[in-house]
Formats: sequence, structure tokens, C-alpha cells
Amino acid sequence: MTRALEFRTVDDGSATRVAEAFSLIRAVVKGHSTFEEEVLFPALESKASLACTPYLLDHEAENELFGSIEGLLADVQSGAGPRHSALASKLERQIVALNAVLALHSRKEDTHLFALAKERLGIEEQAALASQAPRYLPQEIMPQLLPRVVRALTIDEQEDYLRMMMRVVPNPVFLAMAGWVKAGLGAEEWTTLVGRIPELASTAG
Ligand SMILES: [Fe+2]
Repeated sequence: MTRALEFRTVDDGSATRVAEAFSLIRAVVKGHSTFEEEVLFPALESKASLACTPYLLDHEAENELFGSIEGLLADVQSGAGPRHSALASKLERQIVALNAVLALHSRKEDTHLFALAKERLGIEEQAALASQAPRYLPQEIMPQLLPRVVRALTIDEQEDYLRMMMRVVPNPVFLAMAGWVKAGLGAEEWTTLVGRIPELASTAG
């Protein structure tokens, strides 16, 4: 996930590309945070009071940075202000800060929050909570998001991920997802995946 959130440099020519990537990342992070705040945190706080307070503070910091970056991106794209390069430099610093906040947040969740959930919640409750997560991601972003997620995985992880999806989603949905992945991967990478998952050979596109 962290790799997918990394930006590199921002200049006049790349501002539009960064803005597109940024709006996708913001939608994903918003879905993640809203799911946690509405579903996961209340369940955990009922078993471990105040356990989620640090994560709520992280979400506030993320929101402030997202808002600041959104404003700076709009200014860079419109060429506003007499010191355009200074705006771009500030934007780069804010993006680096956001990446650091998100990376630390996800490391803390992986090592602390999910361990706490395993310790305090039963397996059935964990499954019931996790099953609510997908509805917090806007479906219209999936054609863009899915190839990015798959590209960030190793080939073994890609195979595991697609085989898992093949098991849990209806076949027409899986074929649509496979089409988005195919469109987002290079021909060689796609051929390698089909070699591992022959069911992908009939993917359209
Ligand atoms: Fe979170």
C-alpha cells in the first residue's frame, strides 16, 4: 500500500498527473478512514477503551494535509501566484509529509491495531466487520485503483490476490476486474499472470 502512495517529484508538467493520482488516493484513504471510524473503532473501543484515539488523531492530521495539498495542487495547476516554483516546492514538501504520516499510520495499524482486533474480537465478529469494508470504497474508482494495487504486488501476491477474488466475487464481476487489471499491466506481465491463472485467458480487452 505504501508503495502505491508514493509520489516522486512535482513540476508544472506533472501537476495534472499528480492531481489525478492524488484524487484516487484521497478516495481510497477516505474509504479506509470512514470504515474505521464508523465500523472498526466503535467495535474495538467497546472492548478496549481509548485504544483508537491515536488513530483518530492520525486521521485528523491526514485530513489537514489532504486539504492543504488539494489547495496547493489547484494553485500550481492554475499557475496562481507570483512565485510558482515556491508553490511547487511547498507542494512537494506537503506530499512528502503526507506520505510519512500515511506510512506510519499503516505500520501502526498492521502491528498494533489489527493485533488488538485479533486479541479482543472473535473470528466471526472480525469477519462481519471486514465484510463491510468494500462498501466504503466508491465503485467508480475500481477500474483505476485495481491495476495500481496489482502493480504494487509481487507476482506471487498478484496470483494469491486474483485467486482470492475469483473465489469470492461472482464470475461476471471477476471478469470485469480482470479486464481492468489487463488494461493496466504490460503485455509481458499479463502473459505471466495468465500462465499462473489459466482462467484469465478468456479475459476481454
Ligand atoms: Fe486508519
